[in-house]
Amino acid sequence: MVNISSLFYFAAALPGLVLGYALPEACSGTCTNSHDPAIIRRADGTYFRFSTGGRIAIHTAPALTGPWTYRGAVLPSGSSIALAGNQDLWAPDIAYINGIYYLYYSVSTFGSQDSAIGLARSSSMDAGTWTDVGSVGVRSSPGKPYNAIDGNLISFNGNYYLTFGSFWNGIHQVQMKSTPTGVQSGSSAVQVAFDPADTAMEGPTVFKHGSYYYLFFSKGTCCGYDKSRPAAGKEYRIMVCRSTSATGGFVDKNGKSCTSGGGTVVLPSHNWVYGPGGQGVYQDPTYGPVLYYHYVDTRVGFADGQKRFGWNKLNFSSGWPVV
Ligand SMILES: *[C@@H]1O[C@H](CO)[C@@H](O)[C@H](O)[C@H]1NC(C)=O
Repeated sequence: MVNISSLFYFAAALPGLVLGYALPEACSGTCTNSHDPAIIRRADGTYFRFSTGGRIAIHTAPALTGPWTYRGAVLPSGSSIALAGNQDLWAPDIAYINGIYYLYYSVSTFGSQDSAIGLARSSSMDAGTWTDVGSVGVRSSPGKPYNAIDGNLISFNGNYYLTFGSFWNGIHQVQMKSTPTGVQSGSSAVQVAFDPADTAMEGPTVFKHGSYYYLFFSKGTCCGYDKSRPAAGKEYRIMVCRSTSATGGFVDKNGKSCTSGGGTVVLPSHNWVYGPGGQGVYQDPTYGPVLYYHYVDTRVGFADGQKRFGWNKLNFSSGWPVV
């Protein structure tokens, strides 16, 4: 029943609705099993989506909304890096540099610090065109102060930096060579985010908007929700800090340093969305800045292979990204 007072009640509730988290935008075609997605649009308008699994799955679509079609693997024979996990590559990151696509990937096994970040390159991104460059020199082993996974490339002041990690001691960064196939000689890893009270943070993305560099990361437990579910609120969620530099000084909305536990929530579990993470941010020509990620649709299932591709527009008008 609708009467005048309930209409007033609805209007009064609207500001609350605006503060809520939007549901993922539409996705058609193959939208499941898209862990740790990476998105880029080719000059001909084709969208490419890369994701963890096998030897990095390639999906393409005519639009961000789909329909997405599987096209094959980036490295059908696995990585040349001689480490356990070289047939099960993780966490792709994609960049376009001087006519060449650079795809960074991780070689590791679950819960292991024996890890390395590798690189594959292609001029078109189509399946069958990728060449494996192998390790970029970001390597970890037990005892190192980080885990060499989840690389993300950013250009800052004419230099390239690879932000990565970690689950061990937070998020780190190294300077890369001017052609970012390897670490700049003399550069060593610097910690840019860490929470001493909860070290489960990984999957960084650095994105420039306006005069700030935004460091997005995934915090919490990523995987295996069908076997063992973390305490409520400890599952994956997407967080952010910002700085006027891409290489440090990141703070959250309250001014708390990202190296001492700072971090502002961008997207946590909500509605039927559970454990969103593995995110990236893309400056889309149609939608503007877009946050993309994987998530569990609680109406579908909690297994890693059931994770869905999600995306939302980001609004930076307050100086902080809002979904
Ligand atoms: C961004 O958010 C602000 C504040 O909530 C709002 O006024 C503005 O309309 C939003 N912009 C877009 C493009 O939605």
